[in-house]
Amino acid sequence: MGKETLSITDNRTGKTYEVAIKNGTIKAMDLRQIRTDAEDFGLMTYDPAFTNTASCQSKITFIDGDRGILEYRGYPIEQLAERSNYLEVAYLVVNGELPTKAELEQWTFEINNHTLLHENVKKFMDGFHHDAHPMGMLISTVAALSTFYPDAKEVHDPETRHLDIVRLIAKMITMAAFAYRHSLGQRYVYPDNSLSYSGNFMNMLFRMTERPYKPNPVLERALDVLFILHADHEQNCSANAMRSVGSSQVDPYSAVAAATAALYGPLHGGANEAVLRMLKEIGSKDHVPAFIQEVKSGKGSRLMGFGHRVYKNYDPRAKFIKKMADEVFEVTGKNPLLEIAVELERIALQDEYFVSRKLYPNVDFYSGLIYEAMGFPVAMFPVLFAIPRTSGWLAQWLEMIQDSEQKIARPRQVYTGQRKLDYVPITERKK
Ligand code: ACO
Repeated sequence: MGKETLSITDNRTGKTYEVAIKNGTIKAMDLRQIRTDAEDFGLMTYDPAFTNTASCQSKITFIDGDRGILEYRGYPIEQLAERSNYLEVAYLVVNGELPTKAELEQWTFEINNHTLLHENVKKFMDGFHHDAHPMGMLISTVAALSTFYPDAKEVHDPETRHLDIVRLIAKMITMAAFAYRHSLGQRYVYPDNSLSYSGNFMNMLFRMTERPYKPNPVLERALDVLFILHADHEQNCSANAMRSVGSSQVDPYSAVAAATAALYGPLHGGANEAVLRMLKEIGSKDHVPAFIQEVKSGKGSRLMGFGHRVYKNYDPRAKFIKKMADEVFEVTGKNPLLEIAVELERIALQDEYFVSRKLYPNVDFYSGLIYEAMGFPVAMFPVLFAIPRTSGWLAQWLEMIQDSEQKIARPRQVYTGQRKLDYVPITERKK
């Protein structure tokens, strides 16, 4: 093994520089010394969308996109999805270790005891239009929580941070359920803390009478597993938003609102909504080949639920969800769109266009079908993603805020506009 350094020769000047390599990276700031003369700002890297830039060191989530591996704090996602539950995984993701029995009981107790919303939050939510998108409601309501907890700005106080983490994980299900009930014009259902996290969420969504709500155990477990699979995914668009906004040292409610907004987009958390719309548009299995042709021609839309910035192999979460779909459909009856999805996958996985670009089903390809079978409208899909991802965002935020190498996020730019123009009076301007 040679030296852990990189030698760079600047052909503009003929000078050679040696920079250290650590963990397969070089420090971008080490390039700044490379200049043509004393006036030169120094060399930078140009990386729109951060496709080859590590923005942090992290111990939370490991992904090997080529091999289809996902681990939270070192534990394979398959084992967690099979043997754990969402609150235990949230503890693991946020605190770095699996809890002891006593720690898990305390954590579960704390979260259950913070699910209620201040009555004014309810009034705030009442102000939304009847057809407001639940994700828009969630973004605004999470942001509004910061006004109820002004101490949350003490981001360097560990006790305050812990309380706000617990509140955010707890209240996410209540806000999400209230947004859903608001869209139906139904009264809000208050939390029943004797239920599991997922069961309580289902209670607040679906309870219709005064009698205690009993979630179907298969659907409750399926929802919990979907929550586990969505808890974190390292430096994706919304995690990056969480870290970037949080780096200004704003309170975590405001930062989670920003992360939730990032998740709303169709290329991120909105993708399973787009998958369902796409499957409905295709309409029948026979139309699949023509649709694939249209995708390949570049004239139609992309094949939603396919492709990933990091996975260049089958997304391990998608594999698990596909397996789970059968259990759910046994309770709910088969989603007729499943046939179209399976056919799309079959054809795409043999097609040279998708194979050569390493485009495989991602987590969103089958999750929407399960959500729909469980009775969720498509507008709720990104909300169902935001709930569990809150623990991941908070873990990312916690790690960032305690990392001495982190500062306020502030990328550089390559300026390509004009300079040193003289102001022209409006009467003298010509097109
Ligand atoms: N359908 C058809 N072609 C695709 C698709 C797709 N779903 N995804 C990528 N491609 C093609 C691109 O057109 C491009 O082809 P080209 O090289 O001929 O120009 C090539 O594959 C590479 O695509 P990029 O856009 O460079 O890949 P990137 O890593 O930027 O995109 C993304 C990743 C955004 C997920 C993309 O695959 C996509 O748009 N997928 C559909 C939306 C989706 O499912 N998003 C959910 C992601 S998972 C999540 O957020 C939880």
